[in-house]
Amino acid sequence: MNLKTLSFSVLIFLLGIVKSTAQEVPLHKKTAVGDRIVEFIPKGFDKNKTPSLILAAEVSSKGKIPADWSLIPEFTVKNNKASAVLKLEGDVSLYGGGEVTGPLLRNGQSIKLWNTDTGAYSVEGGKRLYQTHPWVMGVRKDGSAFGILFDSTWKAELITNSDQIMYNSEGALFRVYIIDRKSPQEVLKGLSELTGTIKLPARWTLGYHQCRFSYDSEKRVMEIADTFREKKIPCDVIWMDIDYMQGYRVFTFDSIRFANPKVLNDNLHKKGFKAVYMIDPGVKVDKDYSVYQSGTQNDVWVMKNDGEEYHGKVWPGDCVFPDFTDPKSRKWWSGLYKDYLSTGIDGVWNDMNEPAVNDNELPEDKRLGTMPYDTPHKGGGNLPKGSHLLYHNAYGRLMVEASYEGILKANPTKRPFLLTRSNLLGGQRFAATWTGDNYAGMDHLKLSVPMSITLGLSGQPFSGPDIGGFLGDTSGDLWANWLGFGAFMPFSRGHACAGTNDKEPWAYGPEIEKTSRIALERRYRLLPYLYTLFYESSKTGMQVMAPVFFADSKDLRLRAEEQAFLLGENLLVVPAFAKDPILPSGIWEELNLVEGDKQDKYQAKLSIKGGSIIPAGKIIQNAGENSFDPLSLFVCLDAKGTAKGELYIDAGDGFGFEKGDYAMLTFTAEKKNDTVLVTVSDIEGKRNISNEVTKINVHLLLDGKTYEGTGTLNGITITVK
Ligand code: NOJ
Repeated sequence: MNLKTLSFSVLIFLLGIVKSTAQEVPLHKKTAVGDRIVEFIPKGFDKNKTPSLILAAEVSSKGKIPADWSLIPEFTVKNNKASAVLKLEGDVSLYGGGEVTGPLLRNGQSIKLWNTDTGAYSVEGGKRLYQTHPWVMGVRKDGSAFGILFDSTWKAELITNSDQIMYNSEGALFRVYIIDRKSPQEVLKGLSELTGTIKLPARWTLGYHQCRFSYDSEKRVMEIADTFREKKIPCDVIWMDIDYMQGYRVFTFDSIRFANPKVLNDNLHKKGFKAVYMIDPGVKVDKDYSVYQSGTQNDVWVMKNDGEEYHGKVWPGDCVFPDFTDPKSRKWWSGLYKDYLSTGIDGVWNDMNEPAVNDNELPEDKRLGTMPYDTPHKGGGNLPKGSHLLYHNAYGRLMVEASYEGILKANPTKRPFLLTRSNLLGGQRFAATWTGDNYAGMDHLKLSVPMSITLGLSGQPFSGPDIGGFLGDTSGDLWANWLGFGAFMPFSRGHACAGTNDKEPWAYGPEIEKTSRIALERRYRLLPYLYTLFYESSKTGMQVMAPVFFADSKDLRLRAEEQAFLLGENLLVVPAFAKDPILPSGIWEELNLVEGDKQDKYQAKLSIKGGSIIPAGKIIQNAGENSFDPLSLFVCLDAKGTAKGELYIDAGDGFGFEKGDYAMLTFTAEKKNDTVLVTVSDIEGKRNISNEVTKINVHLLLDGKTYEGTGTLNGITITVK
């Protein structure tokens, strides 16, 4: 090498160093966009490079940031890849990140944000799952809290160290939102102000759901439904997985095994069941298939850079994929639901929408499990053209937006129910979720608690695991343990993979069947409370399943508790598997709802918080039955001898509630000497409930004893001696 080439190489080397060092990016703007919510825009940010698919609506400036504000993110760019970091001061407990494995407390964790089909959560050691939530919440020692939202869908890594939160993307600069409020609950409300809340679900969606991959004929579906009713095990929904389709073609029915979907759905309805069917995004490449034909005519598919259709393998073999970034494709997709749902289908399950592609024929180091990163997406409307690297994490979210619109349009008087496997922060506005393909083992059973809590702490309160475990055979002991607390998770569904053993509540013999019945009877008794929590959540973004530390965010002992959980803020659920859970202090009284629940070793232990009143119904077999005949109120007084509670009642479906056809009852209890007076202190809404709630049974739980009283909406007096 001569001197000239040497100095040239040195120059290249030095340039390389400069290029690969992170460049600081100054702030272009910081402004308040809500109550203690601040937007940070780095210099050089371009909406056409990083559009927002997370915010419910564009925010607008509400003036200067608060004078005491201390949380300022720092932006950098390295090799055209943008990052942001938030330095932390003092001890902060970190939570969030959406769908994650590992502990509830996220200090010292890292996750990859690249939606992935990950059986048994095995990809990259469980650091990469089906959904993207670039969001972290921090709770300080004094119980005050903050949250940081990285408004980007680019492939990224989220690192939550104790001294800093770092978000490294593989794309362009993005905006950051920080909420700093007095409690974690208030921060979650702030998150919903930015990203929206769930829509109030129909009451039946809160019942128990029974699923399998697959109940593969109409006959088998009815056998399952009939067995629930014969055995008097409450259940609302039977699910149809992919085998109902004709050769896995979406929006079709197998001509032999599911030849009469309308008759099947009618028969299910007659027995008080709803029917949910699966729809995947991959459309079989088949010139004789109407969905492929119409999609091709309407130019809706993802096309490669060479202008040819992108093909990827899913269940039916080679598939095309709607380009959901294009408003025209979304509209086309929405339109497919009308005829399909006219068969009486009540809900839809969007699966494989990361999108997952089977490229196992490639050498291992070439497999992506999805489209190549440079596959172009058309965009349109507010969305720019962009690569799959930008839009991958939003693919499921855009799909469920289109599905939601289509379902609503097809049945405008019903509340759409949609379950999705893939999603993005903000996508809770369109669909509920479950935590994908777990396996039948005690470790995944335990993990299912922090996973669902964390989703709730990331804006998605409507979630739950495959109860029993999806992959692998399930033992009676595992099933009973899982259902014992799974019955209190926001979305409660048993599911099983093809080739595994039967996983219905009666599949493990009479003892476990009895346990299953008790667990589900307990859930059904609590439906009025659960429905009220969902109503609240749809208004404010509050959790349904909350971490125990929500009972007292100043009590540092509770910060890592992840076996027990709260339902709302007043009901504590301690699963049977829990070993030495750390529970909130104060008054808590044990709640027994069903004969035999206390003696059954698999049932979660329930307790009510002092100062609260929990409304409950009677045992019913499906959510369509009247639960309030009579209504029960479980009362637990605080140290001052008072308690309070709420009950939301409406038609259970439809949109009448938006026009006032609902009743929100507030109950109060007060102890004076030997008597406790329980009153309905307020009724909000226009619904006349005098025929719905005719009798109220009050159970006052005091010092381990129960005192009973009976009355009406006019009030009840109980004597305590
Ligand atoms: C993958 C889903 O995660 C699982 O729940 C489903 O049963 C299968 N796909 C088959 O559709």
